[in-house]
Amino acid sequence: MDFSTLYEQGCGKKYAYNFDEIIERHGTDSLKYDLAVKRGMPGDILPFWVADMDFKSPPEVLDALSRRIRHGIFGYSHTAGESYFNALYNWYNDRFDWQIRPEWLVKTPGVVFSICIAIRTLTKPGDAVIIQQPVYHPFENSVKNNGRRLVVNQLLYGSGRYQINYNEFERLIAEENVKMFILCNPHNPVGRVWTREELIQLGDICVRHGVYVVSDEIHQDFVYPGYKHSVFAALKPEYADIAVTCTAPSKTFNIPGLKISNIFISNEKIRRLFLEELKKLGYGQPNLMGMLACQAAYEKGAHWLDELICYLSDNLALFRKFLSDELPDIYMVEPEGTYLLWLDFSKLGLSDTELEQLLVHKAKIWLNSGPTFGAGGQGFQRFNIACPRAVLQEGLNRLKNAFQDIINQ
Ligand SMILES: Cc1ncc(COP(=O)(O)O)c(C=O)c1O
Repeated sequence: MDFSTLYEQGCGKKYAYNFDEIIERHGTDSLKYDLAVKRGMPGDILPFWVADMDFKSPPEVLDALSRRIRHGIFGYSHTAGESYFNALYNWYNDRFDWQIRPEWLVKTPGVVFSICIAIRTLTKPGDAVIIQQPVYHPFENSVKNNGRRLVVNQLLYGSGRYQINYNEFERLIAEENVKMFILCNPHNPVGRVWTREELIQLGDICVRHGVYVVSDEIHQDFVYPGYKHSVFAALKPEYADIAVTCTAPSKTFNIPGLKISNIFISNEKIRRLFLEELKKLGYGQPNLMGMLACQAAYEKGAHWLDELICYLSDNLALFRKFLSDELPDIYMVEPEGTYLLWLDFSKLGLSDTELEQLLVHKAKIWLNSGPTFGAGGQGFQRFNIACPRAVLQEGLNRLKNAFQDIINQ
């Protein structure tokens, strides 16, 4: 059954997979669950922060991993046949009409790792790299940690929606002599799924000024009905020529701990430099379990994902209604993609520290604080809705109990 049919039938009615199952994650060395007390938070805080999900991976992925565990040998591994590539090819062809070639693929242990490799490969210390904040905070860290100069083109926020300031983007590129742009497509945390037209405006500016584009497309599979993800490098051959496209099955199938990402670089020279940098770091074969999970997920996980997006759409509907009924002064920026909601608390008139204190110690919910995402993050919090509905409902109740007095004042 394809996703549109499922959606029309009404999400949440007939799931083959049980996304309502609550799985205990405490005591599993989980970043999301097991770090609270160490970070000075109450032990009974409910986490809605880091971008992983509280759902089991698709059964087909678990089967592939179990089979290998029963085999019992975890030697150095590489994808000897064509089946790994074919799984990726079919996924991108079917979902994004993007036809990849085997030679473009470089497997790495993560997208942030790959962004750092691209920065080290294509720019020199002191060179300027541009990003559009508020954005996933490791972009800023990756630029600064590698001794490059951060240039920020802040997104425009108006009428509850985010847009790109193209004039400022081009002005900054020219004046700051920018060498690289790190694009977040779709955009975490503001939830925009950039349109073809928007990407073309950005891409043309980058081509005009000889700016490389690292396109982080890790959230490409989470797009809500009515929106469509465009692979930046697929839009024009001249974009493919300047692009490093970062993808991964990790968000989509909830396997970030298995450390596998698939990076596509069609420009031979850029790819050679990228591979040389990997070699300098001594990086060779990817993680065996990551590769197995990735292949199984792309071969057999499509139906699971389609249902998951339905489930997330229902979570989103619940969230939207709850805020408008109970907490109308907290504004949800309507997401076009991702399971991360960007919430505007600015109407409450609290400082970010006061807001944080209330969320952590009164509501006892753990979100990502807006200022972490850089310029334009003040007054916002990021809320991860990829959890069973009952957990989400509990989080919303906690939010209401802690904030209704302030809102009714
Ligand atoms: C935009 C974006 N890029 C990259 C990552 C992390 O990717 P990885 O774990 O492969 O480094 C995340 C995780 O939240 C993300 O939101």
